[in-house]
Amino acid sequence: MKILSIETSCDDTAIAVIEFEQIHQETTCKILANFVSSQASLHNEYGGVFPAMAKREHIKNLPILYQQVVEKCGENFDAITVTVGPGLEPCLWTGITFAKELAERLNMPIIPVNHMEGHLFSSLLPEYEIGKEIILKSLPNDSISLLVSGGHTEIVKINKIGDYEIMGHTVDDAVGEAYDKVARMLGLPYPGGPHISKLAEISRGNVVSGRLAQPDEASRAKIQQDFMCADGNNIPLEISKPKFPRPMIHSKDYNFSFSGLKTAVLYYIRDNPIKNEDDKMAIACAFEDAAVEVLIKKITTAINECGATHLLLGGGVSANKYLSSELNKISKENNFEIYEPLKELTGDNAVMIAIAGYFHQDEIMKSENIKANGNLKL
Ligand code: KG4
Ligand code: ZN
Repeated sequence: MKILSIETSCDDTAIAVIEFEQIHQETTCKILANFVSSQASLHNEYGGVFPAMAKREHIKNLPILYQQVVEKCGENFDAITVTVGPGLEPCLWTGITFAKELAERLNMPIIPVNHMEGHLFSSLLPEYEIGKEIILKSLPNDSISLLVSGGHTEIVKINKIGDYEIMGHTVDDAVGEAYDKVARMLGLPYPGGPHISKLAEISRGNVVSGRLAQPDEASRAKIQQDFMCADGNNIPLEISKPKFPRPMIHSKDYNFSFSGLKTAVLYYIRDNPIKNEDDKMAIACAFEDAAVEVLIKKITTAINECGATHLLLGGGVSANKYLSSELNKISKENNFEIYEPLKELTGDNAVMIAIAGYFHQDEIMKSENIKANGNLKL
């Protein structure tokens, strides 16, 4: 089954073509094309996604990406998968409208896909190579998912494909959103997650019990290169790392709150104005420590309560190295295996939408019934 897949839920326009084959219990997939056009730099000055501009960009990018797909793979598909929610409705509609027009012209069925289900399955692809036939990992029986993105923070118990229980979710900001907002406070570009995480990583490597160790030559060069410091030597030997709150860490449920953490960072910066890159690094690191500690605490408790043997990680924040290393630590102590998405599939992409759509191939819908739903639940 050859699927043309479209994803436009937020600020990435993505189209992919994947060929799936079912051989008994095994699903093989061959990625024939995978294009993502990121709008991040355009939204940078707004510090977040500006929906009207995102919609305009999707409308502009979709035919361009589709043309590239056609040049590579032709137009011989068996079905179209398209993200119908959750996300920004004006953006979702651009992908849906494009899919409907194609479906009509090529006489092809459409499978609507939940964006979060795409993230949930993104870790089932064990390797990434265009044109290679790859066997998908099968969904383990006792699995749980931690979905961490710009719009969502959820712990999901997976009963079977299409049957999910949301054990916990954020009651305010998503963790990725908190990363983006803190990045903005620190004057870092959007999306802020990767920038905060880089700063935190350097800080963590250099701070020895609250004191900044003398950075070695390699760290100095990295700091200069990554942050374009005029003087890589201009690193004080001492910094004090703030300690931010861990909201809801002791609550008896699996819910999260990141808005208070973000506000704590805001007040800290108000009372301790940032003087140099080291202050930024210390704040980034302290923020990441707090955010990740809460995620780890809640997911460990959830895994133990459910007796889950596998954790499927998904969403843009799953690219975070510190989260990954902390998860790997607890997986050994708590006896579960982690499926992490490959770096090509951590952010929004159309490959994961095709995978989710393939699993729901019996849910083909009539074109006129397909609608965007910004608040679609799993
Ligand atoms: O899944 P995604 O690409 O889009 C949504 O569905 O929201 O997630 C985007 C989020 C952004 O908030 C971005 O800052 C965050 O993922 N992110 C990261 C990292 N890379 C991306 N957050 C922390 N560390 C990272 N390395
Ligand atoms: Zn996403």
